[in-house]
Amino acid sequence: MLICIPDVLTKQQVAHFRDVMSRAEWEDGRSTAGTQSSLVKNNMQLPQDGPAARELGDLVLDALADCPLFVSAALPLKIFPPLFNRYGVGQGFGLHVDNAIRGVPRTPVRIRTDLSVTLFLAEPEEYDGGELVIEDHFGSQEVKLPAGHLVLYPSTSLHLVQEVTRGERIASFFWLQSMVRDNLVRSLLFDLDQTIQDLTARLGAGDPACVKLTGVYHNLIRIWAEA
Ligand code: NI
Repeated sequence: MLICIPDVLTKQQVAHFRDVMSRAEWEDGRSTAGTQSSLVKNNMQLPQDGPAARELGDLVLDALADCPLFVSAALPLKIFPPLFNRYGVGQGFGLHVDNAIRGVPRTPVRIRTDLSVTLFLAEPEEYDGGELVIEDHFGSQEVKLPAGHLVLYPSTSLHLVQEVTRGERIASFFWLQSMVRDNLVRSLLFDLDQTIQDLTARLGAGDPACVKLTGVYHNLIRIWAEA
């Protein structure tokens, strides 16, 4: 399931990101690609240990922690330090699948990639092409979101970035290991949590049925989550 989360960053934050990125050094995006991906990957990235990626990556992590919808949808256990990329005219990233396990550089931490995330940092009208195309069991879905919005999709999906034909596509991307490994189970928990939020808004947090359902949610988390 694809989940789009709006307004993770404000337009003001996006402007700050763009300013830092415009002054940073960039490198070939193949630096973080596996053997197969590197054959089809054509973009530029901020060096993952450079000052720009670290500063902006921390801001992304702060914004995610402040976003209840993201936490509910992803149930994150470990998040890979966010990376940043840019596709100019003629650049794209052909069909590939993301590596299942990623080590965080210079740490013993390894992350199983359950979910892939793209956080858009350019407005859709700034560039043509550059759609993220994700294949799932229902066919292909194209995603191109306003700056500051993100999409979460299962890392098991094959996906690509269409070639950019005008302007520049700028984004942050990263992976995460969820407390709940199974995509279907995680989606059910997300639906349940969102329904509880909806009922609570209508009936009040103290409503006995809302309290009981909230208990059910947390007890299912106890059964299914690794923490
Ligand atoms: Ni990918």
